Amino acid sequence: MNVNGTTKVYGLIGNPVEHTLSPLIHAYLAERLNMNMTYVPFCVKDNLNSGVRGARALGIHGLNITVPYKNLVIPILEEIDELALEIGAVNTLVPVQNGYKGYNTDMSGLKRAMESEGIILNGKTVVILGAGGAARAVAFLLAKEEAAKIYILNRTFEKAKVIADHVNRFLEKEVAIPLLLSEYKSLPSSYIAIQASSVGLNESETAIIEEEDFYKGVEVGYDLVYKPFVTKFMKYVEAQGKQAFNGLKMLVYQGIDAFELWNDCTVPHDLAEDLCRMLEKTVVNHE
Ligand code: ATR
Repeated sequence: MNVNGTTKVYGLIGNPVEHTLSPLIHAYLAERLNMNMTYVPFCVKDNLNSGVRGARALGIHGLNITVPYKNLVIPILEEIDELALEIGAVNTLVPVQNGYKGYNTDMSGLKRAMESEGIILNGKTVVILGAGGAARAVAFLLAKEEAAKIYILNRTFEKAKVIADHVNRFLEKEVAIPLLLSEYKSLPSSYIAIQASSVGLNESETAIIEEEDFYKGVEVGYDLVYKPFVTKFMKYVEAQGKQAFNGLKMLVYQGIDAFELWNDCTVPHDLAEDLCRMLEKTVVNHE
């Protein structure tokens, strides 16, 4: 594309940003939808506040926020979406009158990615593995989607309990139950499993739970990790004859949701699927 006087500029703020796939996502959407825009990663080492305010002053049309700033950006925002506030993490900024409004499209993206595979969360029993920032966000998505029961399994019980207590307070009923990983035997007989820990990231030999018995109860497995493309968790699920998905579609749909918020448009389903295939090829070729 050629940058000219009417090119809209979008960006990503994080540290590091070198390996981000977001520019590919937005360049692909812009080209297919014939939009004059560009998307630039900005490595912000400190001075997040100046970075965000400077971006607004420069008229940057939209920002993504990544590690380590998804929580730290919140006090800088002019407005915040209700779900993003509960989750406590923001990854997308949309310009409003005197600043930006923050959203969490990681979670709306996860929802869309799961729905595109026919996975509906409403009324379901769901097991979250892990209790870090990603798991916390998933727990609130499940609360919003009115999952029937949310089990949060973690190596450190206290962290699972903090998230479960927060979700239960938010819902004003006992929907979330914290457990140690080793307590998986007390789970009901069937559940959707979402792998939201960092175990298995960038290595294919480990899963957060290695016992086969846990996987016998998994109806469908979803790993937020997509590097490696097929994780050990996914292999365990597939060994039980069940479907398992990686986190690449979630990444694609968080980008699509951000793109739609910025441009007030709807990305057609076929284009979204083309984008998933393009990104899949890119990721697999880099393995
Ligand atoms: P993120 O914000 O990306 O979710 P995080 O906050 O560092 O990352 O959380 C990582 C999650 O992976 C945690 O649930 C962590 O368990 P603890 O809370 O017990 O630390 C989990 N995790 C990381 N390494 C693990 C391991 N070797 N075994 C089990 N769980 C592990």
